[in-house]
Amino acid sequence: MQAKIFLSSLLATLLATGVIASPAAVGARDVKSEHGWDGTVTPLEKVATVGAKKAPPKGAIITPKDSDVPVVTTSVEARDIEALSKRTPGCIFVTTDSNWGGTSAYICLATNGGCTIWNNFWRWNISSFGPDPGTTCQISTGTNCDGTTSVAFGYPGYGNLGVWNDNMGSFRCWW
Ligand SMILES: *[C@@H]1O[C@H](CO)[C@@H](O)[C@H](O)[C@H]1NC(C)=O
Repeated sequence: MQAKIFLSSLLATLLATGVIASPAAVGARDVKSEHGWDGTVTPLEKVATVGAKKAPPKGAIITPKDSDVPVVTTSVEARDIEALSKRTPGCIFVTTDSNWGGTSAYICLATNGGCTIWNNFWRWNISSFGPDPGTTCQISTGTNCDGTTSVAFGYPGYGNLGVWNDNMGSFRCWW
């Protein structure tokens, strides 16, 4: 009884003050701004170099949920890169601590499907990795997109990298 009265008065208050979010606002969830990104786009050459290109793997692309960790890929086949629709310019957000904490960088990749190789600071030092919507990535323990490589995953990425926690040497993204 008490609770019901409280809830209906709370609802009335929310409606009166316009606090209830519109569906558009709910859909605008953004990994970068949610986790304190200051708006700086880090030039790619400050954090990585780019190696050979490759087509994205066949099969499903994972959309991570909260507290998921990435898993190892089993696919070795490639599919036609031209078949992918172009939606975003391939930007990613990374941080040095789990759950999007620590030092962060937001970078935009220039080479679709290029192996992006972390420099000394970021190599084996990343604990959260988030592609922007429309960008799909695979992360690897080795420095040439080799070693143990994850399944292809998309936005919002992972705040807990499991096998790749402090253990990512390189990655590839497609968009
Ligand atoms: C890894 O990141 C931390 C910041 O979280 C930084 O202090 C440290 O210097 C980095 N490691 C290397 C090898 O640069």
